[in-house]
Amino acid sequence: MTTKINDIDEIKRIAEKAARSAGKILKDGLTRDFSISYKGPVNLVTDIDMASEDLIVNIIKERFPDHLILAEEGHRDGEGSGYKWIIDPLDGTTNYAHRFPFFCVSIGFEADGEIVFGMIYDPIRDEMFSAERGKGAYLNNKTISVSKAASLSKSLLVTGFAYDVREAARNNFDHFYNFSLASIGVRRTGSAALDLCYVASGRLDGFWEMNLSPWDTAAGWLMVKEAGGNVTDFRGGLFSIYKKEILASNGKIHDEMVNIIQRGIR
Ligand code: IPD
Ligand code: CA
Ligand code: CA
Repeated sequence: MTTKINDIDEIKRIAEKAARSAGKILKDGLTRDFSISYKGPVNLVTDIDMASEDLIVNIIKERFPDHLILAEEGHRDGEGSGYKWIIDPLDGTTNYAHRFPFFCVSIGFEADGEIVFGMIYDPIRDEMFSAERGKGAYLNNKTISVSKAASLSKSLLVTGFAYDVREAARNNFDHFYNFSLASIGVRRTGSAALDLCYVASGRLDGFWEMNLSPWDTAAGWLMVKEAGGNVTDFRGGLFSIYKKEILASNGKIHDEMVNIIQRGIR
C-alpha cells in the first residue's frame, strides 16, 4: 500500500489539529491543579498525560477510524490497516509534574512500516516542528537544517536517562562522563522528542539515549533525517524506533560519537 499525496495532506492536517489541541491542554493544565501518580520509582504520569492522549486519539479516530494507534498511556490496536499513528501525548512528564516548562506533544505517522510524517509541538514556545519523508523538516513552516559543527570538541550535546536508571547495569553515566569531557558540554533537558528537534534545527549538535520507546523517537528521528542529519544505533548501524538505542547528530560528528560510545568508560 502506498500513501497517496492527498491522504498525506489530510494526515498532516489532522496531526496538526491534534498536536495544537493537545498542546493547549498541556499549556492550560500547567496553571491548574493536576494529579500525579507513579508508574515506577522515578516514572511519573499525570492526569494531563491521559487527557492529552484521549483528545489526540479521538481526533484521529474520528477522521481515520481504521488506522492503528500506538500511544504511550495505553491506546493500542492490534492488526489492521497499514497506517499507524505513534503518539507521545506529553513528552517531558517529569518536567511537567514539576511545572518546569520544557515538554511537547509528539505524533509520528507510519505507512507500511515506514515513518512518513512527524510533528512535534512545544506549546510554551509555540514551536511546531514537522517533517515529511523526502520533503524536508520545518519549524513553524520555515525549513530547518542541522548544525555545521565539524568536530565533537566544538559540539553541544544532549542526552537523557531511562526510568530504570537506579537499577540498570547500563545506566548511561559512562557515556555521559566521556561525552562531557570530549565536547563543549552535555545538556539533559527531559524531553527526548524536543532533543531531536533541537538537533534537527541546529540548536544542538548531537543526541544519544538508550531504552527509549517508539513514541519518544517516531517523529523526532524523521525530523533529524529530513534536516540533513544522521540517526543510527550505537554502532553506527541502522536505526529503528523499535530498537533500544538512538544516536542522532548533524552527521559531521557522527563517527566521533560512535567511537566515544564504543570506547566505554575511560
Ligand atoms: C521521557 C523523556 C526523557 C527521556 C526519557 C523518556 P516521558 O519521556 O523523553 O527526556 O530521558 O527516557 O521516557 O516519560 O516524559 O514521555
Ligand atoms: Ca516520552
Ligand atoms: Ca509521555
